[in-house]
Formats: sequence, C-alpha cells, structure tokens
Amino acid sequence: MSNIDSLAQKLTQLRDEKMDSFGWSEGSLAAIGREIASFLEPGSLLADDRIEPDPNERRKIPLWSAEDGSFTILATIWAPKQNTPIHDHEYWDVSGMIAGVLLETHYEADPAIGDVAIPRRSVYHHPGDVWSVSPQRPNIHTLVNPTSEIAVALNVHGTGATNFERNTSRVFRLDGRFDHD
Ligand SMILES: [Fe+2]
Repeated sequence: MSNIDSLAQKLTQLRDEKMDSFGWSEGSLAAIGREIASFLEPGSLLADDRIEPDPNERRKIPLWSAEDGSFTILATIWAPKQNTPIHDHEYWDVSGMIAGVLLETHYEADPAIGDVAIPRRSVYHHPGDVWSVSPQRPNIHTLVNPTSEIAVALNVHGTGATNFERNTSRVFRLDGRFDHD
C-alpha cells in the first residue's frame, strides 16, 4: 500500500469513528493532525519531481479524495514570497509542513467596518509542524512563504475534490492603519 493510500485509510477510519451529524469536532481535527504528522518526511507523499512550483500562484496537487466528499488530501507548493489573500474558511483544514517555512498571520475583522481585517498574531510553521483552521472558531488568516526557498505543505480539506478550491469563503483587506508594514 502506498503512503497516500495508508494515510487515506487512517483518515477514513477516523471519519467513520468520529464524524457525527455535526461534522468534525476539535478533537477529531487534533486526531487528523496526529495522523498527518507521520507523513511529513520529505518524499513520504511527494516525489522530488512533483514539488516544482508554479511561478504564477501557489500550486495545489490533489493527492486523494473521499468518495463521499467528506475530505480531500492535497499538497501545496509555494514559490518564494507566494501568499494567500486574507481569507476566511467555509470548511475546516488541517495542515502540516513538509519542507521550507510558512508564516501564518491571524486577523480579526470588525463587522462594523465590513471586510477590513486587523492582524493580531503571527506564527512560523517549520517542517513537522501541524496546524488547523475551523469555521467553529475565528479563522481569518493568511499564509506566506517569507523565504527564498520553496515551501511544501500537506493539507487535508474538509470538503470534496470538486469544491476544495472554494474553501476560501471570504476575502478581506488589510486595515489601512497597517498599510505601511
Ligand atoms: Fe486558509
């Protein structure tokens, strides 16, 4: 059995044991994180020749998708300085760092001023680190590869292959007070 099939089998088992009619709990997301942590060694899921970045935008490589649309496993390849917009999530996502570094910044949005987001805290993700976002908690964030090296992450999205591109549900703009940064 390939490593991706092995990971998919473990996550499918978790889904069958833990997902209830309300979806995935925080405990289930932590369990997913513990599973993917075993597959973050470079070469475990992606051969070297598959980590070539796309110079135009971060590259998403679908690796496996559950038939019922409950989750999708993919890899993301980040060229130096590539980033996401400031965005919210409609679905949960558990990620792990395979190679390189990503800087994640969490934001707070004030409904009174619409789509303006204010940065609150940042964290660097290094190889072996695991993190998650969930619609059950504040999860407006952005990710950037701040280095001059390629960054590679493993992602498990809580949605099917046909709509994982829609996981970014809402895009924000930076509070003008921070534009000078
Ligand atoms: Fe995100």
